[in-house]
Parts: sequence; C-alpha cells; structure tokens
Amino acid sequence: MAKGKNTVFYCQSCGYESAKWMGQCPGCREWNTFVEETAPKAGTKTGLAGRSRAGGEPVCLASIDLKEEERQTTHMEELDRVLGGGIVSGSLILVGGDPGIGKSTLLLQVCQQLTADRKRVLYISGEESLRQIKLRAARIGSFSEHLRLLCETSLSVVEETIRREQPQVVIIDSIQTMYDEEISSAPGSVSQVRESTHVLMQLAKGLNITIFIVGHVTKEGTVAGPRVLEHMVDTVLYFEGDRHASYRILRSVKNRFGSTNEIGVFEMKEKGLCQVANPSEFMLSGKPEGASGSIVACSLEGTRPILVEIQALVCRSNLGVPRRTAAGTDYNRVNLLLAVLEKRLNLPLSGCDAYVNIAGGIRISEPALDLGIVLALISSYQDRVIPDHTLAFGEVGLSGEVRAVSQAGQRVQEAGKLGFDTVILPEVCLEQVPEAPGVRLLGVRSVKDAVRLL
Ligand code: TYD
Ligand code: MG
Repeated sequence: MAKGKNTVFYCQSCGYESAKWMGQCPGCREWNTFVEETAPKAGTKTGLAGRSRAGGEPVCLASIDLKEEERQTTHMEELDRVLGGGIVSGSLILVGGDPGIGKSTLLLQVCQQLTADRKRVLYISGEESLRQIKLRAARIGSFSEHLRLLCETSLSVVEETIRREQPQVVIIDSIQTMYDEEISSAPGSVSQVRESTHVLMQLAKGLNITIFIVGHVTKEGTVAGPRVLEHMVDTVLYFEGDRHASYRILRSVKNRFGSTNEIGVFEMKEKGLCQVANPSEFMLSGKPEGASGSIVACSLEGTRPILVEIQALVCRSNLGVPRRTAAGTDYNRVNLLLAVLEKRLNLPLSGCDAYVNIAGGIRISEPALDLGIVLALISSYQDRVIPDHTLAFGEVGLSGEVRAVSQAGQRVQEAGKLGFDTVILPEVCLEQVPEAPGVRLLGVRSVKDAVRLL
C-alpha cells in the first residue's frame, strides 16, 4: 500500500466518491465536478463508528413516550404549516435558497418569536459580523435578551459551545462556512459540508435540540455542494421567489414530521418578512380584465388550494423553429400541450411562437394546471377573451381528454370564496364536488368540449 497522502475525489455536485479523477460523474452525469480531497481517516469522526454511542438496546414501540415530541410553535403560521405544525425537538432542518432571498431574515425572526417564548436560542453566523446581525435585528423589531449570538466558523468551537450553552434551538448560518480543522479541504467542499452536517445531526439527536441550517443554492436550484445534505437532514425547506418581487415562498420538499409540498407565503417588507394569509388574493392582484390569453387556474400546494393567473401569448413565428418559453411551469409540459392542441384540434401551432407565464413568479408543476394552460393558449391564438371570474382546472392527457384531479371540492370552494362564478373542471370530478352556492360548474370530457364552452 502506498504510504503517501491518502486522497479521494468527490463530485462537488452529488458527493460521488472515486479513487481517481473522472471527467464525468457516473452518479449525476455532471461534467468536471471532481475535486481531490483528503480521505477521512478510518475510525475518526466521520461515520457513526468513530463516535461513542449510547444504547444499542432495542426498546418496545409502546414504551416510547411521545410527550417530548410535542411541537413548539414558532408563532408564524405560514412557517408552522410548512414544518408540519411547528418545530420538533431533536430535528435538523435545512433552509435552502438563493442569496439575498431572506433566509437569514426568516431565521432571525424565528429567533425573535422563540426567545419571546423564553426559549434558549443560539444564533451562529459564519457569514456576518455581530454588528451586521444587530443591524438586521434592529430592522425587524425588539428582541428578548434570551437570544445569544456567536460568530464562528470552526466546527469544533461550534460543537463545544452548543454542548456548553445547552440551547434549545440553534441556527447555523450557513453550513457552507463551517470548517473542520481535521479535514484539509476548503469550507463548502463535500467533505466539509458532510462532516459538519453529520456533527450537527448527532448534536441535534443527542441533546434533543432543534438545529436550523442555512444552505446556499446553486444555479441549478439545488443546495450547493452535495445533494447528500438533503438525505441527512430531517426536513428540507426551500425559500424561493423572484428577487425583484416582494413575496417569497417557503416550500417543504422533504419532511419527516409532516407533509411535503406544503407552502408558506411571505412578503418582504421594510421591517422583515410578513405572512401572507390569503395567497390566492395576492397572486391574482393585478390580473388584467378583458384581455385574451389569460385565465385563472387552481393548483393544490400541499393541503392548500392556490389560485394563479396563467397568461399565454401565441403569435406567428418569423423563424424556422418557433420559440417557446414557459415561466413558472414546466417547459416540456407546455410543449406537450401545444402538440396535443395541434393534433386534436387541428390548430396550426407549429408555425407559432408561444409564451406561457404563471403571473407573479410562483413555480407550479402540478398537472391540474394543464386545462388552464390549454385554454389560455387557445384564447390567445384566437384572440378571444375568456370571461372574468372563470376558473379552470384539470389534467390534459395525450389524446386530448381531460382527466380527474384530486381534491376538486376544495378547489371549487376556494374559487367560490374569491368570487368566481364559473368553474370548468373534469366531468368525472363533478360527482365529488358538493354544491357551491353561486358557482356554476361546467364538466368537460375533452379539450374539444372545453373550447366549445368558450
Ligand atoms: P437576507 O436574509 O440577508 O438573505 P439571505 O440570508 O437569504 O442571503 O435578505 C436580505 C434581503 O432582504 C436584502 O436584499 C434586504 C432585504 N430586507 C428587507 O427588504 N427588509 C428587511 O427588513 C430586511 C431585514 C431585509
Ligand atoms: Mg444570509
């Protein structure tokens, strides 16, 4: 065996490990992502083997006391919903998002709420100075004296401080700045991030505390560094939204203690993030009246129906290959729907540019939007205005049929609440939908039916 330095190559995108350098990662098919890092020594910190663990003795399911699992509310209803009803002690929560989207602000507000509840909270920042945090806190409002701050990037100091201070909630801003001296690779690299997360996870489970970690997001929209991070933590929340628009959406993509796909809507104001209790109203503000190519659709995000405006613009193309764009929804789905229209309704759309946009900057990929997208496209193509207060939802299949979607009743109810008087929905869903006063339900079987209704 060679005695020299023991190194391995890690894919910086997915964490794939290899003994030699490779151009393309076999794990995630990314090019040029391998970086040489020191291999973790066997029996050191990395891996469960290195750390002393108590127990090993199995227990009866019935004997586990659930009392201590009770959830602590953050007094921010939108956040509580995304977390599945509040924070669970002993959990590790990853908050990802673009730079400047408001992760630090959100977590500082969580600190504010929790310390007001007399919780011991420790905010550890590796990015900002105490002064900067104080300035941000001054914008947000008044804080209780229970909040303790630490500016530190060394993992061992962080670990020691948490063990000494015994806080109930810890915020780590951000995981990419944490640094273990025993590993020679740079902060933010796969080994560092993995090791830091591992240590934090053991702290969370061992001391039964909640740890929030902030993770930066790459251009592709995943947490920078390894995807392995997502597998290690209990809950993954993504903070998204247009940086130029004022509202932000917090979405849970993984949650061991609640449902995923739940969203919380916030608005960034002068004094921090405010909750938006009725997002549908918010999303529909500014909808043009009497314009072709616009319709409202209903999507179910987690347990909550959200109404969004779909806009389409179809015009004659000057190019050999027509231009298509989709903002806020799946590009391939839009292409597929255009092909369905071309084939099933004989519309010559292959000679047209088509632009589809979900107004407001929210991203939705639920198939229930299909019918709305189709109607918006046709409305724009034929320049026919869809009456205001009309809403459509339903999945469109390849033969142009309109298929059932889940929770049709809830969607209709939300539409009624916001003053919609006509709802176009899949015919098969009609029987599940209870009568909604003042709302006319039009069941359709195929895209052709829907177009005839217009
Ligand atoms: P920040 O929480 O620093 O983002 P992240 O930690 O995700 O990088 O958010 C900073 C942005 O939010 C910055 O552009 C300023 C803005 N902001 C407000 O508009 N109002 C406020 O009260 C605060 C604290 C920040
Ligand atoms: Mg920050």
